Amino acid sequence: MPKHIAVLPCDGAGKEVVPEAIKVLRAAGADFEFEEFDVNADSYLRTGVAMPDDVWKQLAAADSILFGAVGDPRVPDANYLAGVLLRLRFELDLYVNLRPAKLYDDRLSPLRREDRRHADLLIVRENTEGLYVGMGGRFKKGTNDEIATQEDLNTYLGVTRIIEHAFQIGKREVVMVDKSNAMTFAGGLWQERWKAVAAAHPKVKTRHLLVDAAAMQLVKDPSQFDVIVTGNLFGDILSDLTAELVGGMGIAPSANINPSSGRGLFEPVHGTAPDIAGKGLVNPVGAILSAAMMVRHLGVPEMADAIEGAVESAIRARECTRDIGGELSTSQAGDAVVKRLRD
Ligand code: IPM
Ligand code: MN
Repeated sequence: MPKHIAVLPCDGAGKEVVPEAIKVLRAAGADFEFEEFDVNADSYLRTGVAMPDDVWKQLAAADSILFGAVGDPRVPDANYLAGVLLRLRFELDLYVNLRPAKLYDDRLSPLRREDRRHADLLIVRENTEGLYVGMGGRFKKGTNDEIATQEDLNTYLGVTRIIEHAFQIGKREVVMVDKSNAMTFAGGLWQERWKAVAAAHPKVKTRHLLVDAAAMQLVKDPSQFDVIVTGNLFGDILSDLTAELVGGMGIAPSANINPSSGRGLFEPVHGTAPDIAGKGLVNPVGAILSAAMMVRHLGVPEMADAIEGAVESAIRARECTRDIGGELSTSQAGDAVVKRLRD
């Protein structure tokens, strides 16, 4: 039985990169059937509904979701974003957000010191709690007395399961990142769960870093890192930083998964890129590598390796888009990967 993949290109750059990822999956011989859904800013503006109920049911029933990017300058209200991407993460309980950063080609590193450029690390970002839960409010809005609150929600279960997951993956070392010196309540819970889970995995080296020090160390010497586990917001911020260490937002992939239910949503880390979208300039590599993560999640690691190898080879040959030193368009860059899979 082919796996049923729900496809949500959504907006802007997402519409350009998702077809490239599908092209590559087909060339790799993936036994998938794709079904695309019309969830995007146009339909939201037309209907006022971010995600119709019948679409939701089908997404929830799919084997995996291949996602592009969501957002549109015409839709400034947060309900659209919350009703699509954040709803999928929260309600499908995709609590693990995996954001790998691997330097495929030395020249893509912005770092001056050659001996410290190497990066092959993974950020394990908590994806269903923290400052993203949308709890809080604005009181006396619009006045000089206004008060705004934004709650940082951390649960025993949520913190424990994401740290546990990091230890399932970490081979060399697991680094836990928080801000427990200033955010003492949430930080206290993270510290306690971290120590308890770490004690159950004595074979893996462990280290704790405050998020500011982690940002500094990532720029100073990314080669020191293997697996970093952290909360939702810090994971969001650090994964943009790590993307830039290996070639930029255009090539960074991500997997949003629930290891128990098997559900997953796979998306490039970049957004809709309204400044360059629609011109054939967007890099499809982030989406293609996200598709490779989907293939791995669905149990075909050799195919994921083949896709990743083809991407690496295309990048090294500079058969890629301009942002990473090539001259190809979005679809030509997808073709360059396809060609290597066929060879
Ligand atoms: C990401 C994005 C999202 C996030 C936005 C669009 C809500 O920046 O996937 O990194 O912050 O998680
Ligand atoms: Mn982000």
